[in-house]
Amino acid sequence: MKNQAANLELLLETPKTSNTKFITITSGKGGVGKSTFSANLAYKLWQLGFKVGIFDADIGLANLDIMFGVRCEKNLLHVLKNQAKLRDIIMPIERNLYLIPGDSGTDIFRYKSEFMFESLIEDSAFLDSLDFVIIDTGAGIGEYTQTFLKNSDEAIVITIPDPAAITDAYATIKLAANFKERIFMLINMTKNHSEAQMIFQKVQKIAQANIHNIQLECIGELTKTTLINHYSKNRGIFVKEEPNSAPSMEIEEIARKLAKKMERNVLVQEDKRFGKFLKKILGHF
Ligand SMILES: Nc1ncnc2c1ncn2[C@@H]1O[C@H](COP(=O)(O)OP(=O)(O)O)[C@@H](O)[C@H]1O
Ligand SMILES: [Mg+2]
Repeated sequence: MKNQAANLELLLETPKTSNTKFITITSGKGGVGKSTFSANLAYKLWQLGFKVGIFDADIGLANLDIMFGVRCEKNLLHVLKNQAKLRDIIMPIERNLYLIPGDSGTDIFRYKSEFMFESLIEDSAFLDSLDFVIIDTGAGIGEYTQTFLKNSDEAIVITIPDPAAITDAYATIKLAANFKERIFMLINMTKNHSEAQMIFQKVQKIAQANIHNIQLECIGELTKTTLINHYSKNRGIFVKEEPNSAPSMEIEEIARKLAKKMERNVLVQEDKRFGKFLKKILGHF
């Protein structure tokens, strides 16, 4: 068992400003690989040397903690109810890689009115040195997921080759286009590169014809493989356990591409502190 308090101390250089980039992973349809991708992308970015947080916004099904082999007993809801400090709920996975157990969005509106947001901003200062926060959302494009889309820097919409998933991904893209200039797509569970390209081009064509000013980019693809399935069943992160496997290489390519694209896109110097982000998310309800 890791010493959580001691590990958190390592992150204590608390910057006054923050450059954290928030990336929302969403899909429309469930079961397309959001959590698997979020966890492995976060771990890969960490392996590449970044400081990374992974925010579980689909806590109801609590699978990120299982994947990372930790047990989150408390989550953001406990913080909102003043039953825990933010610092107490965060699970260090590695040095500079943190799992942040969020909330599925069903209960937060009940508690946020009594909550002191200013103290949350102070309490979360230790997260302000993170380079990336990856947000794993639940299925569907309800208000909660939309709020994440609105308040994050980038969105990655995942689909699989199944026509119903493509339709839902398109609906998600259409909605996300209200908030985002650029949207990334990830094609998961593909047979091969040409299938992935075909799916992306199909969505791209419909999007360009119907959505005003859309900039849709394919951030990459993940081939369907028993290795990924094996690690979900056996609770593990494949980029950690099998860093040289084909799917780990695919994740690495995506992570590098994403980091590079986001680096080029630093425009406005907003206040990117983690507490501000939470305030925007929670304040919406
Ligand atoms: N590329 C892939 N190849 C094989 N199985 C995959 C792949 N991506 C995801 N899966 C499997 O699909 C299932 C659903 O994945 P999950 O990440 O839980 O989806 P979501 O979070 O979107 O509901 C899991 O059993 C996972 O192992
Ligand atoms: Mg999931």
